[in-house]
Amino acid sequence: MSESRVYPVPASFSDAHINAARYREMYRQSIDDPAGFWGEQAEQFLSWDKPWDSVVNADLTIGKAEWFAGAKLNVSVNCIDRHLPARAGQTAFIWEGDNPADSKHITYAELHEAVCRLANVLRERGVKKGDRVCIYMPMIPEAAYAMLACARIGAIHSVVFGGFSPEALKDRILDSDCQTLITADEGLRGGKKVALKANADAALAACPNVHSCIVVQRTGGDVAWSEGRDLWYHEATAAAAGDCEPESMDAEDPLFILYTSGSTGKPKGVLHSTAGYLLQAAMTFKYTFDYREGEVYWCTADVGWVTGHTYIVYGPLANGAISLMFEGVPTYPDAGRCWEVIDKHQVATFYTAPTAIRALHAVGDEPVKRSSRASLRLLGSVGEPINPEAWEWYYRVVGDSRCPIVDTWWQTETGAQMITPLPGATDLKPGSASFPMFGVDLALLNEDGSEIEGAGAGYLVVKSSWPAQIRTVYGDHQRLIDTYFSTYPGYYFTGDGATRDEDGYYWITGRVDDVLNVSGHRMGTAEVESALVLHDKVAEAAVVGFPHDIKGQGIYCYVTLMDGEEPSDALKQELVKLCVQEIGPIAKPDVIQWAPGLPKTRSGKIMRRILRKIAENELGSLGDTSTLADPSVVDSLIENRAG
Ligand code: WTA
Repeated sequence: MSESRVYPVPASFSDAHINAARYREMYRQSIDDPAGFWGEQAEQFLSWDKPWDSVVNADLTIGKAEWFAGAKLNVSVNCIDRHLPARAGQTAFIWEGDNPADSKHITYAELHEAVCRLANVLRERGVKKGDRVCIYMPMIPEAAYAMLACARIGAIHSVVFGGFSPEALKDRILDSDCQTLITADEGLRGGKKVALKANADAALAACPNVHSCIVVQRTGGDVAWSEGRDLWYHEATAAAAGDCEPESMDAEDPLFILYTSGSTGKPKGVLHSTAGYLLQAAMTFKYTFDYREGEVYWCTADVGWVTGHTYIVYGPLANGAISLMFEGVPTYPDAGRCWEVIDKHQVATFYTAPTAIRALHAVGDEPVKRSSRASLRLLGSVGEPINPEAWEWYYRVVGDSRCPIVDTWWQTETGAQMITPLPGATDLKPGSASFPMFGVDLALLNEDGSEIEGAGAGYLVVKSSWPAQIRTVYGDHQRLIDTYFSTYPGYYFTGDGATRDEDGYYWITGRVDDVLNVSGHRMGTAEVESALVLHDKVAEAAVVGFPHDIKGQGIYCYVTLMDGEEPSDALKQELVKLCVQEIGPIAKPDVIQWAPGLPKTRSGKIMRRILRKIAENELGSLGDTSTLADPSVVDSLIENRAG
């Protein structure tokens, strides 16, 4: 809120789809008359097999959202077939490989054929409407084909990030009883191979219900083979027909499950539905990015995260856009890669995460200045709060002070962008996600649940249903209600804190629960703790976040050993390895501090607030420690502070 600079809408956006007056008018309508507003959007953005009986039927007190009841449509038809008359020869995806010499264009006609062939393979293997299919893939076009092939036949996909460990993959396959897996021999990132099939084999050893494992040949590396279960993607699709009758789906039929971390327990299978999700994905894509026909748009997310689902695949394709998919990492072969790719493919919109911006900023301006970036029109940010310094660098150096930045706040659970500037409508304040998107009714609450009027700071909640709202936690509907709709009855609780300034701009301050955001990856402290206590020598562990220059948040672990066990560097390494093994490399602890005792209340509850302050090195503001069972524990932790 200390930020005073404001960047007005540039003249180059004076003919944007949405200007300031239009934003105000449409936003007002979307809140006053949601059914009228979304009904119009639904006609404009999607093709339907059968119209709806009612637009919305929702009740946040029980977490219920039903949109476009009675309607029928197919997502793959909306993303592919309906564009064919005009765009068969237009590029749908530009694929840029890990190796800068590797890239290709896939037209809408080619996409149609690839998706149909794979959909036929799935049907031949017995996959039916409603069956769950797990996708564990590198960033190659086949990952998108797999998602769309599922959508075509009404199967529910569950994409698991290719950086997750076999253990994490196994848990996710079992939780939603996926019986089919689509993977690749190996992935390729930053010149390094990722043993996806070997990981899959390790996971599948404990998943007896998986009858089919479809393997894309990406690197040609050696893989083990399970006859009968495993099949090569290229062989199976070559033998399948190039056309496939789509399944006409109910608006509320599930489209996908995506696992995400919460403050307690195991990751939750967030379930999204067909019509509402696709509509909001399509609408936000067009308006937030002010997308123009024929432009090249690049979102650097992985398809393993919700950003990859909504803004690499569904949102762009629903608009007939050209979406760039990047296999590699921003620093390979060097830190100039992104800017080179922008020039190479004439990218107009670049959408990435603050952690990448900070990492590239740290390298300096030279790799950016080597490129022209003349094709760039718009920049985007997503996944975590962007600090004003990173914002300014992104704006000034990457965007040459001529490209607006859309800082988009949303969540796996919201399915699509919820708070964002619109480039033709919003004067930008660095670090602020600014205003709610159409149809998003926000409030800030005090601790006691009362709404804050005007400027202030509080818990960010949503007051009424939106089309891409989470429908359930797969297999555990009660958990949906407990997690999102019980803290403040009648509201959707985001888990984020925010402030609102005098001009109504929202500033997201970050999670208020035990969820970490490490390099834009969401992780529950409980997940890391569970991994640590698997070690025989560990009695107890408490994990908190701390500010990290590049990652946003780092992982700080307090570990109490069993009686008689001695701390050692070797043991630290074992614990780091255990986290990587159980979750994946993204869960690698930054700091492990040996803690002979943890600060607990007399009833035995760990006081995380104190542990957070010690990790943050905010020793002057530990707050009240008088309710601790043994206050001396705190002194000892401070004395032995690590990192
Ligand atoms: C955080 C990613 C500030 C937030 C799309 C949220 C953000 C969590 C922003 C969801 C932003 C996402 N500014 N914080 N622009 N975008 N977040 O489910 O804490 O991976 O609750 O979805 O990321 O992470 P998720």
